[in-house]
Amino acid sequence: MPASLRQLRVFLAVARHESYTRAAEELHLTQPAVFAQVKQLEDRLGHPLFERIGKKMFLTEAGKVTAQGARESLDAVERMHMRLADMRGLRQGKLNLAIVSTAQYFLPRLLGSFCDANPGIEVALMVTNRQTVLERLSRNEDDLCILGTPPEGLDVIATAIADNPLVILARHDHPLVGSRNIPPERVAREPFVLREPGSGTRLAAERFFRARGLTLPMRMELGSNEAIKQAVIGGLGLAALSRDTLALEGQTGQLKVLDVDGFPLLRQWQVAYPRGKHLSVVAQAFLDHLVAHAQQAVESGARAPAPA
Ligand code: PGA
Repeated sequence: MPASLRQLRVFLAVARHESYTRAAEELHLTQPAVFAQVKQLEDRLGHPLFERIGKKMFLTEAGKVTAQGARESLDAVERMHMRLADMRGLRQGKLNLAIVSTAQYFLPRLLGSFCDANPGIEVALMVTNRQTVLERLSRNEDDLCILGTPPEGLDVIATAIADNPLVILARHDHPLVGSRNIPPERVAREPFVLREPGSGTRLAAERFFRARGLTLPMRMELGSNEAIKQAVIGGLGLAALSRDTLALEGQTGQLKVLDVDGFPLLRQWQVAYPRGKHLSVVAQAFLDHLVAHAQQAVESGARAPAPA
């Protein structure tokens, strides 16, 4: 008997989480039920799919082959459902998105307008940093991925959808506020609050300064844009963040954009998927929606304070 779709779904959840317990939580099943499904699948396929080294679970070689086949099979079934829905004149099905955390300032609004126009669509949104989005993209885990700059080193189709300028922020009473054309060398003498390694924001900032032979003195590392803004307001240093993170700050906020030479650093939001991937009807419709409306959404959200 061939493997059932249910077994493949359960197996993929275990592979993704590297844990029976976490897969069980995701699937709302008990841990023994998940274990039993994987065991049955192993018996049917005649191969062990996982091995345990120390406390960690790894896919065996047979497990890797099965994971690839399972993803392709489940994708094909999902596409089939979507095509059938399309034939009935409905746009429905699931839309799986992975976005970098900084995209959360504009993307949910675009999702809102898309879902209003297409009520039959269920959206799963994974919000994480650039490194994790790139890993998910390389494993073809989502319909579409959204990043702050083009993905590098991957064979993907990427489309620019909106501007994503990077700015240097300071607290409103910082001595550099009000100065014009501040040289990057001057800014690089100030302590910085930086995002975590793996963040696209951090990568872009470090690249800019490294290209000028400068290293940003790190006062603190934080994994969230909002926490970084609060740290800057708290007087812990300067920050380099996407202008979109100021969407809720208003003109008179506590944060000011410094007029640093080379900034705003111009970048563009990208929507990407693996080359050769067959986009579902829903994913294609959302991609079209992004191309048509993302720039406007970014502009209406970014009431960024002008350089002081
Ligand atoms: P990040 O990416 O949220 O991983 O920092 C954002 C960006 O590249 O602009």
